[in-house]
Amino acid sequence: MPGALAPSVKERLTLVEADAALPSDFAADVRAGLTARTKRLSCRYFYDAEGSALFEQICALPEYYLTRAELSILRAHADEIIAGIGDDAALVELGSGSATKTRTLIEAALRAHGGVRYVPIDISRSMLEASSRALLADYAGVEITAIAAEYRAGLRWLRRRPEPKLVLWLGSNVGNFGRGEAARFLRGVRATMSAGDALVMGVDLQKSRAELEAAYDDAAGVTARFNLNLLERINRDLGGHFDLDAFRHRARWNERVGRVEIEIVSRRAQSVRIDALALTVAFAEGEAIYTESSYKYSPAQIDELARAAGMFVQRRWLDDQERFSVNLLAPLSD
Ligand code: AVI
Repeated sequence: MPGALAPSVKERLTLVEADAALPSDFAADVRAGLTARTKRLSCRYFYDAEGSALFEQICALPEYYLTRAELSILRAHADEIIAGIGDDAALVELGSGSATKTRTLIEAALRAHGGVRYVPIDISRSMLEASSRALLADYAGVEITAIAAEYRAGLRWLRRRPEPKLVLWLGSNVGNFGRGEAARFLRGVRATMSAGDALVMGVDLQKSRAELEAAYDDAAGVTARFNLNLLERINRDLGGHFDLDAFRHRARWNERVGRVEIEIVSRRAQSVRIDALALTVAFAEGEAIYTESSYKYSPAQIDELARAAGMFVQRRWLDDQERFSVNLLAPLSD
C-alpha cells in the first residue's frame, strides 16, 4: 500500500516481566541438595546460557529422537490442529525456548487466518527476546506478547486474560515433573482455559531400555556435558572446586517407575569445597547426585493424566515409529 508502512518488529513485540515471586535461590538449593542424605540438584538449574546451548545440541543428536519425532507429527498435523481453533485464538506456549517447532503451528495459523498472536512464556528473557525477534523478522502477520516468567507466574498472568487460546506444552517437558506434580500443574493450566480452548501436549512414550538409555547417554557425550554443567555452574557462580574429571554422568531406565533417572556419580572418595556456601561436601566412591527424572508415558497414562487435570484427550497423533505422541486436550465441562 503506497505510503503505509508495515508495523516494525519493535511495534509487534511486547515484553512482559511477570515473575513477581522471588528469583529461585540457587545457593540455598545447592546447600540443601548437597547436604541431604540422598544428594540431589534440581534440573531447573541446567538451563544457564551454557546449559541452554548444550540442550539445543542435544535436540539435534541422532540418539535423541524426541525433537525430530515431535516435529514430524506437528508438520503432518499442524493444519488439523489449527483448524480446531477460532481465528481470534492466541497461541500460548509454556517453556517456549527457541520456538523452533512452534514455527509449524504459526505457519498453519497464518495459512488459515492470515495473522496470529503468539504468547511465548519462558524463564530466559534473553532466549525469549532472541526467538521473538527471529519470528517477527520471518513472519509479517505475527504479533508477540512475550512473558518472561517461570511456569507458575506465567499461569497467573494467563488467568487474568481469559481470551480464547490454544496452549502449547511441547518437548515432553511434562516428563521432568513427577506424575502427581504433572497433574497438579495441568490443573493450573486447565484453570486458565475456557470452553473452546485447547492444550497441545507433546509426550514421550515408553519404549525399550536400549533406546531410552542411548537417548540420555549419547555417544558424543553431549548429555554428559549438559548434566556435569551443573557442577561447572556451582564452580562458576558459587566458588565451587569440583574437578569435573572426578565425576561421571549416568542415565538409567527405571522400568518399574517408568522414568529415566539421571545422576552425577563420584568416581572416587573426595571432598569438595564450595566457598560461597562455606561448605565442604564429602562424597564416597560411587555416590550419586540425583539431577533429573524424565518420565515416559503409555497412552493410557496420558488419558489418566488428562482426566486428573479436568481435561480429556480429544485427539492423539504418533510419529511413524510410534516413539512420541502429540495430544490435543480439551477441558471437561465444570
Ligand atoms: C527438557 N526435557 C524434556 C528433556 C528430557 O528429555 O527430559 C531434558 C533432557 N535431559 C537430558 N536430555 C534431555
